Amino acid sequence: MNQNIINARVTFRNSPIHILEQFTIKDIENAYEQFKKHSELDECVIIQTCNRIELFGKSSTHNLDKIKKTWASIAGLEEDAFNENIEFVENQEALHHLLKLTSGLDSMVLGEEQILGQIKNSITSARNIKASGQHLNTLFDKAIRIGTRIRNSSGIGRGGISVGSMAVKLAEENIDELKTKKTLLIGTGEVSTLVAKSLQRRGYAFDVTSRTIGRSQTFCETMGGNPIKFEEVLSGFDNYDVLFVATTAPYFLVTYEKITEAMNNKNKGIMILDLSNPRTVDEKVATIGGVKLMNLDQIAEMVEKNMNARLNKVKTIENIISEEVSILEASMKRLDAEPLVKDVFKNIEHLREKELRKALQMLDEKDERKIKIIEELTKAVVESIVSTPMNNIRKASEQGKPDVVDLASKLFDYKKHNQTD
Ligand SMILES: NC(=O)c1ccc[n+]([C@@H]2O[C@H](COP(=O)([O-])OP(=O)(O)OC[C@H]3O[C@@H](n4cnc5c(N)ncnc54)[C@H](OP(=O)(O)O)[C@@H]3O)[C@@H](O)[C@H]2O)c1
Repeated sequence: MNQNIINARVTFRNSPIHILEQFTIKDIENAYEQFKKHSELDECVIIQTCNRIELFGKSSTHNLDKIKKTWASIAGLEEDAFNENIEFVENQEALHHLLKLTSGLDSMVLGEEQILGQIKNSITSARNIKASGQHLNTLFDKAIRIGTRIRNSSGIGRGGISVGSMAVKLAEENIDELKTKKTLLIGTGEVSTLVAKSLQRRGYAFDVTSRTIGRSQTFCETMGGNPIKFEEVLSGFDNYDVLFVATTAPYFLVTYEKITEAMNNKNKGIMILDLSNPRTVDEKVATIGGVKLMNLDQIAEMVEKNMNARLNKVKTIENIISEEVSILEASMKRLDAEPLVKDVFKNIEHLREKELRKALQMLDEKDERKIKIIEELTKAVVESIVSTPMNNIRKASEQGKPDVVDLASKLFDYKKHNQTD
């Protein structure tokens, strides 16, 4: 491939939650600027979810050290923080990984839907601010379509397993008679929706809170639960035995002080499930007597135990992905020849128009019908001469023969800096 597609990632696969959250990129727009400026990438897309921070890039050269260095400076880390956590793949393997992501095969909960929406959002915002270009836009559009098709045909996402349902199951396994306990859900976003659905399905009553009471009320109208004012909750957790916390707050909502205070006022234990990344429950609360704290790491373990039905589909999906990767790779390689092909067509069109104008002036032709015939003739001649070599260049590029594309560039005097993608 003339142009390389790279993927650098830190994910839940090799980093527990307290490590993973350190790699979070806070200012994505600035990160795009930095990666382009300092890491030799001319296109970028960042995918950041609770379970992964991933960078996809396109470049003719690439340098993992520079990527690590830039990422470290953006996240405020030492460069060697990446040594054990970062995974790096390129070209075919990067395409393969993206298809695993869009089809849900790399998710903690196999086949979960959220990742597809998150990838769509990532490419839309990268496209809007022009962080991505022709290569990554095409790649992501295709990968999203393929992933959706794989999900629909395999039914990998069926069966009601989600981060939310696994969190509720975890609570059930750790608490006797969950039905009799007072449960609070903090957050009204996507994950809270999954938790609420699961609580509702199993017949558990629960309170819901978020910064605006209006939002909690709307949430409860569709998802069930009882809306409670945020300030009321924050002033005392002692009313509750189980807390599910799923927010994107950039600080600890559930602090050591608040839980200490709550535990002083109650004579029963409390279980806290922090589903957030970065975490929004201070891990120090686990040191308070009677407090059981669990986070995404324990949910990952629970998921593993519950994945049998979905695991049976993995092999079939892997096979489909392997077939799709070759097709995807060919269309990405084909893109490498597009700037040259576009440039040749543009130059020839320019020449055709110039020569046509000259000829019509010499003929002093005024008859519109005749002018049209002459014009069509010039177009037909150009088309019949240029189409075959251009298609052959595209084909050579698709078949991974960059030498043919380079030779054609020389023959047509194409300069790479003309490139407009
Ligand atoms: N989506 C997934 O697949 C997934 C899976 C596992 C874990 N997670 C993690 O779960 C957390 C929530 O994700 P999500 O997808 O549900 O996010 P989301 O749909 O964007 O919802 C975010 C929630 O956080 C609340 N929030 C934001 N800032 C807050 C603050 N300063 N104080 C109090 N509440 C605040 C929002 O409340 P307002 O309405 O008041 O803004 C909203 O209820 C994230 O940390 C994420 O990493 C997500």
